[in-house]
Amino acid sequence: MCGIFGYVGREKNLVPVLVGGLKSLEYRGYDSAGLVIASSANKGKVFEKKSVGKVSILEKSLKGKSIAGAAGIAHTRWATHGLVCKRNSHPHADCRRRIFVAHNGIIENYKELKEKLEREGHRFSSKTDSEVIAHLIEDFLGKGRNFKSALVSALKLIKGAYALAVVDVENPNVIYGAKLSSPLIVGIGKGEKFLASDPSALLRHTKEVVYLKDGEIVELSERKIKIFNQKNEGIKVRTNLIEWDLEDAQKGGFKHFMLKEIFESPEAVRSALRGRLLRREGLIKLGGLEGEIDKLKKVERIIILACGTSYYASLFGKYILEETAGIPTEAHIASEFRYAKSPVGRGDLVIAVSQSGETADTIFALKKAKEHKPLLSLGIVNVVGSTIARETDAGIYNHAGPEIGVASTKAFVSQMAVFSLLALFLRALRKRKDKFYKEMLDEFSKIDRKMEQVLSLEKNIKKLAGKYKKFGNFLYIGRGYNFPIALEGALKLKEITYVHAEGCAAGEMKHGPIAMLDKNFPVVAVAPKNRLFDKMVSNIEEIKSR
Ligand code: M6R
Repeated sequence: MCGIFGYVGREKNLVPVLVGGLKSLEYRGYDSAGLVIASSANKGKVFEKKSVGKVSILEKSLKGKSIAGAAGIAHTRWATHGLVCKRNSHPHADCRRRIFVAHNGIIENYKELKEKLEREGHRFSSKTDSEVIAHLIEDFLGKGRNFKSALVSALKLIKGAYALAVVDVENPNVIYGAKLSSPLIVGIGKGEKFLASDPSALLRHTKEVVYLKDGEIVELSERKIKIFNQKNEGIKVRTNLIEWDLEDAQKGGFKHFMLKEIFESPEAVRSALRGRLLRREGLIKLGGLEGEIDKLKKVERIIILACGTSYYASLFGKYILEETAGIPTEAHIASEFRYAKSPVGRGDLVIAVSQSGETADTIFALKKAKEHKPLLSLGIVNVVGSTIARETDAGIYNHAGPEIGVASTKAFVSQMAVFSLLALFLRALRKRKDKFYKEMLDEFSKIDRKMEQVLSLEKNIKKLAGKYKKFGNFLYIGRGYNFPIALEGALKLKEITYVHAEGCAAGEMKHGPIAMLDKNFPVVAVAPKNRLFDKMVSNIEEIKSR
């Protein structure tokens, strides 16, 4: 996930302020960083520095530099459009290098906007979607608008998600921010203001903040905060106090990263669906697969390769691909597949699934499958530019943001979201945009809110954990889609608590595992009210009688 930090005020040296801001955003993961500083003493001139890799590399390249500025913006980039390189790292500028923009999010219609701007003579320096924002503002300035109005007009043309920090080098006493579906927070200091995509970056300066709402634009100067909407109407400034300390800030107020990431699951799903699930148009758009449509129409069988949690997500993938797209699908444990003699045919689609994109067994299994020259290989990968992303013909990124906790949580739900998108996409390719397809699209677009409802049960879940913590063995059971969920539940319990747990298909219980059960062996039944609910109830009755 990218990070934004901005400053306006009287600071004597902006370099440590901006670098410090970026450092507190580092934990979110990134692949390059950059900053610009505009000073009122040197109007029209800007100091710019970018680097690939760690913020410490950027810091090193700035060693000994003291730049008094009025305004500065900085960014850590996690590549989504364009390679990891200095040219693609933020902030991005317009043709005249008057306007600098740092952007988090995705501009879904950037291609159309870019093509139009290029036809009108704009020259782009990067391959990013973000640069289009600077040129759009420039375009409106050229039509005689003032800066604020040019920014508002540019935002009206943008479809997608953004948190923005914008500097006009002609007026360095002000920075602008804007937010839509990506977080952006204003920090209020004495004679200075800050902008950040994460409150943790503000804490070393101030605890007084304004959480911007979607559609709001903010103009910050040393002394003032002005918030307005996209109709250019003023909005009352609402201040809040951050309640956590710097120490726990990077975990966003959570006790540990894993808990934070569990709570980020709805956002991980939203990010996976953003710009891809187009409910009104009744469409699934998967940009990464557009060049492979002909092959995707011909797929005879799907072979999925993955390890651990990613394998359990792949088992879910098997169920949803078979039910939704009607294509025979196998999910394989990569460490088994790489040493097995499983045949791969010319009509097969091979999918490698991995959060990191760097799991050796999955990479080797993929290479082995590719030796048989399958029809196509795809990656479902979270880390952009990772080995699996590069080794596959095409793919679908998860966009779940970095998963710092070793135990996979939000990546798992994101992988299931991507499998669901792929299954619907393939169903549509097979010309089956029927009632089932439409219902799935509708239900799927509500899933993030349902996940939030589940997470709001945190206190009850904690109580249950208290009740069961004394037991040393657990069995998780489920049927259909919830069989892989049961397996994943057992894996998480083992990995995090070191308590023995097993997952099993509920129907298999009577073929052996039931022998283990007694009153000291709790069973977790994953039993939503679906077509297999009654079957699950029978299994639960069997367990109770033990
Ligand atoms: O990065 P990958 O998804 O390829 O990693 C595969 C497994 O090592 C991983 O899913 C592991 O099982 C989880 N971290 C467990 O929580």
